[in-house]
Amino acid sequence: MTITDKRVGGFFTLQHSDTNSAARAGRIETDHGTIETPIFMPVGTVGSVKAVHLREIKDDINAQIILGNTYHLYLRPGLEVLEAAGGLHKFNGFDRPMLTDSGGFQVFSLTGIRKLTEDGCEFRSHIDGSKHFFSPERVMDIERTIGADIMMAFDECPPGTANYAYARKSLTLTHNWLKRCVTQFNSTQPKYGYHQALFPIVQGCIYKDLRQESAHFVTDLDAEGYAIGGLAVGEPTDMMYEMIEVVNDILPQAKPRYLMGVGTPINILEGIERGVDMFDCVMPTRNGRNAMLFTSEGIINMRNAKWAKDFSPVDPNGTSFVDLAYTKAYLHHLYKAKELLAMQIGSIHNLAFYLWLVREARKHILANDFSTWKKMMVEKLSCRL
Ligand code: GUN
Repeated sequence: MTITDKRVGGFFTLQHSDTNSAARAGRIETDHGTIETPIFMPVGTVGSVKAVHLREIKDDINAQIILGNTYHLYLRPGLEVLEAAGGLHKFNGFDRPMLTDSGGFQVFSLTGIRKLTEDGCEFRSHIDGSKHFFSPERVMDIERTIGADIMMAFDECPPGTANYAYARKSLTLTHNWLKRCVTQFNSTQPKYGYHQALFPIVQGCIYKDLRQESAHFVTDLDAEGYAIGGLAVGEPTDMMYEMIEVVNDILPQAKPRYLMGVGTPINILEGIERGVDMFDCVMPTRNGRNAMLFTSEGIINMRNAKWAKDFSPVDPNGTSFVDLAYTKAYLHHLYKAKELLAMQIGSIHNLAFYLWLVREARKHILANDFSTWKKMMVEKLSCRL
């Protein structure tokens, strides 16, 4: 069984492989434009990147692709609205590439209000308690209706602490669901006239043999790209890095690899060094709303009293307009006063920083000095200002 629907004109080009590490620079072509990798994808759970306007996400942050969530979009605004709008791009006005997560992760974090069977997953809405059922086929249909350029397969994401027996059983379920996703994907068409790619997700918790089995299983499907799931879910960080290596040793070089839900700026550089091309995480926006800023010199807690009279720019090295337009003292005041503007500034700053970081990484991969640059960056990123 293979994924038959491929983009006419190609999907991924591997432009350069680093000689000192597994880092890669590449290009993903979608019908909504090109994505230069490695890339970070801002999270827009309900179709909006929290607290950030379109103009900022496109022109200031320079996001090349954003993420939406099947679970959230299905519950609200719902499929009728999304289909009437002509898909998510038309609905939210973001005309660049988008990716939808399948709900696998969101549904499984609804512990206590979900029931998992071989057939699929029954769950209750976190909004009104109503009952719903996701099967692999249903999720494919929903993702077709949302209309993202990249659709994720429906998987189970077990906790990082899962024992071997559970991990084994869960992986079999994820693979069975994946086969059903592929069958449904192959037998349906995009609804809005542009290509959609389907990415399978590698699972297997922290067990090397399961990860290897999963990486071989997904590779056989000949997809346009692959994701690594089930990491940064409570396992030790070193274990996460080891699993990335195990999986990327098997996944084909000629396809993009997406590490789901990861992570800190350091996690991202470590992932890039191990051959990951795509990342997403709520951290820049969530932490930005909570006064924690990531900068090229280290981490800043903007609530700290030491900033109360610091009239230097938010981030003199930052690439966003907020970095020079506002002072640390003013932003500190906005967080203390719980002003909405603080959350906007923090989110824009952090996302612009994440996008700067991956652009720099790409530049250094192409210049073939990634490892030296990465080592220097990791030291700086570990500082607390
Ligand atoms: N987001 C972060 N991790 C995962 C995962 O394992 N599966 C899915 N579907 N989404 C994720």
